[in-house]
Amino acid sequence: MILGVDYYPEHWPMRMMDEDIKRIVGLGANTVRIGEFAWHMMEKEEGKYDFSFFDGVIEKLKTHGLKVIFGTPTATFPAWLSKKHPDILAMDITGKRHAFGGRRQYCYNAPVYRQKTREIVTALLKHYENEPAIIAWQIDNELGHEGSDQCFCPTCESSFQAFLMHKYHVIENLNEAYGTIFWGQTYNDFSEIPMPTATITCHNPTLLLDWARFRSESINTYAALQVEIVEQFKQAHQSVTHNLFGGFFDRAYDQNILAEKLDVVSYDNYPVWGGLEAPLSPAHIAMTLDYIRGLKQKNFWIVEELMGAQGHTVIGYLPRPNQGKLWAMQAMARGCEALLFFRWRGMTRGAEQFCQGILDADNQENDKFREVASFFREVKENESVFYEPIKAEVAILYDYDNRWSWAAQPQSHAFNFTDEFVRLYEGFHRLNVMTDVLSVEKDFSPYKIIVLPVMQVVSESLLERLDAFAANGGTVIFGFRSGIKDKDNNLNLGINKTHDFCGIEITNYESLGHGIQVELLEVPEKVSIWRDLITPKNAKALYHYKDTYYTAYAAATVKHHHNGKVYYLGGGFEQALILELTKRVCKEQGLICIDTPEGVESIKRGDHIIVVNHNTFEVQINPIY
Ligand code: GAL
Repeated sequence: MILGVDYYPEHWPMRMMDEDIKRIVGLGANTVRIGEFAWHMMEKEEGKYDFSFFDGVIEKLKTHGLKVIFGTPTATFPAWLSKKHPDILAMDITGKRHAFGGRRQYCYNAPVYRQKTREIVTALLKHYENEPAIIAWQIDNELGHEGSDQCFCPTCESSFQAFLMHKYHVIENLNEAYGTIFWGQTYNDFSEIPMPTATITCHNPTLLLDWARFRSESINTYAALQVEIVEQFKQAHQSVTHNLFGGFFDRAYDQNILAEKLDVVSYDNYPVWGGLEAPLSPAHIAMTLDYIRGLKQKNFWIVEELMGAQGHTVIGYLPRPNQGKLWAMQAMARGCEALLFFRWRGMTRGAEQFCQGILDADNQENDKFREVASFFREVKENESVFYEPIKAEVAILYDYDNRWSWAAQPQSHAFNFTDEFVRLYEGFHRLNVMTDVLSVEKDFSPYKIIVLPVMQVVSESLLERLDAFAANGGTVIFGFRSGIKDKDNNLNLGINKTHDFCGIEITNYESLGHGIQVELLEVPEKVSIWRDLITPKNAKALYHYKDTYYTAYAAATVKHHHNGKVYYLGGGFEQALILELTKRVCKEQGLICIDTPEGVESIKRGDHIIVVNHNTFEVQINPIY
């Protein structure tokens, strides 16, 4: 199993390298990741490639039996490149170019950047064509992260217009889809279409959705360019991967498209970062890991696992002793099968002085060093467990078009897309029912329960697949606002087919902003964020609203659909109620629920059970599956 650290030998005096490598081996690592920010070291002057520093590093690593994951260095380009070609620098929404100095500030569509990328990646791959110590190539670093999914430069403007022309062929089709008749926005020509920079009130929602699709395509075609070069040169024992970042739902980037091209998906697991005062909840972290595993529907790697507090200018919560190890074990339990800690030693200079490493500036072995060593030891002792299959009978579905549709119009000040996913995920997590988090494009027919949180964009084909799924005995659970929109981000006209499928009509709705809660008639739990006012047709009401005027309306319903059932949850229900509903649907489907104490996660791998206790105290449990 690949176990290791992220190592940046170029950051330190050469004389430290031998000692570092010996200590990395002593830690129990067998792999290091190198190179992903070192373009300038490889091409100090244009076209003059020099890989001798890394040749030396690899020789030393090999002597000690260490394997290498090598990163292509395009996340940070050399200063000479942007001086010579300032138009490689992306522009912010005000039309101002990003300065050289940070990272990821290039434009994915800049022809010069694409060309220079081809050149450096080809030179690198050719140079190491026969290097057996390299076991994987990581392309770039966290594509689309840190706001780099957006660029508003003139190249992107014309590329966007070309993207739209390719999609709509003639301007009349675009006018029709966008409904530009509204506010007299009709275009005569594609060259008149703006990027969604600042305007008064807001942009057309279809334009915003197309913009997100265009941004996603810009990243994915740029990534594909690199993958293709790696594919051309890589040896049979090498994989091509890329490290995805957390918070993916907040970016204009559909990672499924890249994942298809990769041999293995990698993830950078930081349950706490920057000024966060508390880490993400165990369920939130777990949901993220299930999403990463769902991209290729197979196990994944973590090439950056946090070890210590992290942040550029501000830091927050300090992971408690052994909490980094706990998060790493949680990831292993949920499908990680190669793990590297970020990073060997915290850097004393540059932007990441406050991103701790395993070692800190004093360079002394510390508790984090011992924590990592014990993690490596325990994983090796139990290695076969982490190759046991993960079996999920529940799938939570997302669709990036739907996500971007919400980004264009959140509809409630209190709405947060990821939180709505966590809301419906949490019940299953609490009951230790394994879930896959999947793109709606994936085949969900083998599952027993399908959950669709806030799926306001529902295509006819999705509805047909859900119809067949429920007819075959499956349970479908829709969250609020489901099916109100089409693929153009426009409201459906006429009878709502999704509502019809759920056996309901929704005649009105209310956005519940920050702090607003409404009561339910039958149970003490409340509803926040949103409420659909539901009239059951051939469905049964589960709960009603309690307040004056609305007691006739259901807040949630269930309908028998041939052999299966279709639930509709019309609001943001409190967790206790979600837990009850989750128990109910699991029971109906005969799924085993394991009632562990709060904060305790139990995961079945083959005949083994991995129990992760996120609490600060010991618990006694005996999970029986
Ligand atoms: C990651 C990034 C690393 C480093 C790390 C600091 O997102 O990939 O290069 O910046 O954060 O915590």
